[in-house]
Amino acid sequence: PEGTRLDDDGRLLIGGCAVADLAEQYGTPAYLIDEGALRRRAREYVRAFRERHPDSLVLFASKSFPSASVIGVVAEEGCGVDTAAAGELRLAIAAGADPGAAVFHGNAKTDDDIRTAVEARVRYIVIDNLDDVERIARIATEPVPVLLRVSPSLDAHTHAAMMTGHDTSKFGIPPAQVADTIAAIRREPMLDLRGLHAHVGSQLLGLDQFEAEVEALAAFERFGVYDLGGGLGVRYVPGDVAPSVDEYAERVVAAVHKHLGRDVELLVEPGRSMVARNGVTVYRVVTVKRGGRVHAAVDGGMGDNLEVSLYGQAFTPSVIDRSGPAETVDVVGRHCESGDYLANDVRVVSPRVGDLVTVPVTGAYCYTMSNNYNTALRPPVVFCDEGRSRLAVRRETFDDLLRREQLLGDRG
Ligand code: LLP
Repeated sequence: PEGTRLDDDGRLLIGGCAVADLAEQYGTPAYLIDEGALRRRAREYVRAFRERHPDSLVLFASKSFPSASVIGVVAEEGCGVDTAAAGELRLAIAAGADPGAAVFHGNAKTDDDIRTAVEARVRYIVIDNLDDVERIARIATEPVPVLLRVSPSLDAHTHAAMMTGHDTSKFGIPPAQVADTIAAIRREPMLDLRGLHAHVGSQLLGLDQFEAEVEALAAFERFGVYDLGGGLGVRYVPGDVAPSVDEYAERVVAAVHKHLGRDVELLVEPGRSMVARNGVTVYRVVTVKRGGRVHAAVDGGMGDNLEVSLYGQAFTPSVIDRSGPAETVDVVGRHCESGDYLANDVRVVSPRVGDLVTVPVTGAYCYTMSNNYNTALRPPVVFCDEGRSRLAVRRETFDDLLRREQLLGDRG
């Protein structure tokens, strides 16, 4: 990942901090964030779009790393925020983000979601269905700027669970119903329809799909605002070839100018491509089982990284800070589930108990989907920059979990 390198003694550094020192200080597993790299990425995104299309806004998809510290950094660098639930919006506001540069999504918005978004005066609420039309109209006390999410009939080239823009998707309005939905929105005086939204999928490595998305949006009536969602993929393993942010911006802006015009407000909602490569997870090896396959079991797994079991995402773990003969191993987790592994058949320095293992490119959707399977305590988030580390989110404690328990048995 961007900010890691080796020091003169062959120790792995992230943001100038030795990973081994961080593991000592904060424990394992831990999510390590290269703060400088994150900041540069956000700045690069904003610049790439603004210089090609001044009326553009990069909205960080907060679902990809819903921590106030991460949202705060990208907001400081000029990004708005894409939120998809009242909690995400509240978190963004707590992080100091400007609600006027936030959009609010959701395919099943509750009254609480809508009230939170309306009261915060977000830039746009994105209508996903006809019940949204009725609910927002009922809750609003003055006209609310809205976008309509359409699901263009595109089959994104990605994992099926990450496809969202296809015909049978639960998200958005299918093309054939768009005109009627627009008419329904316009019948409501409390709804101010400004434009259209689409999101094709996630971890997309080909730019053609974004161009096809823009063309699909051009099939409808013209609007002044277009939100193209997120989806740009990143390199996880050496074979992946991912477009740069500049290449992405170039293709998207050119397509917008060609098919939708120059005089539009353009929004994009990158999540994964903003944060994925700026995060590394560090683990410690607990046991190594040899015989048939070699299983190196670490002190985390699907409790802190669901990308592997949910999407089959490939990662490239390393045994760090020492040399030695290489070996092909399965790096597995500590959860009671056969599917709980971080990577199979990877070449690493022959692992020993106590070794540190890093898994790079875990900055997106890992912290997001961390969970308490087997009463795992969710790992801390540590910001690393110029040799200094700061705790952004502390490790969960057993007391955090116990606090929610009512201990009915004890009280009879
Ligand atoms: N905008 C909308 C409306 C979205 O639904 C998403 C992601 C994004 C933006 C950001 O997409 P990105 O740039 O991160 O690809 N949990 C999955 C990914 C699901 C993405 C959901 N929507 C994963 O762990 O891979």
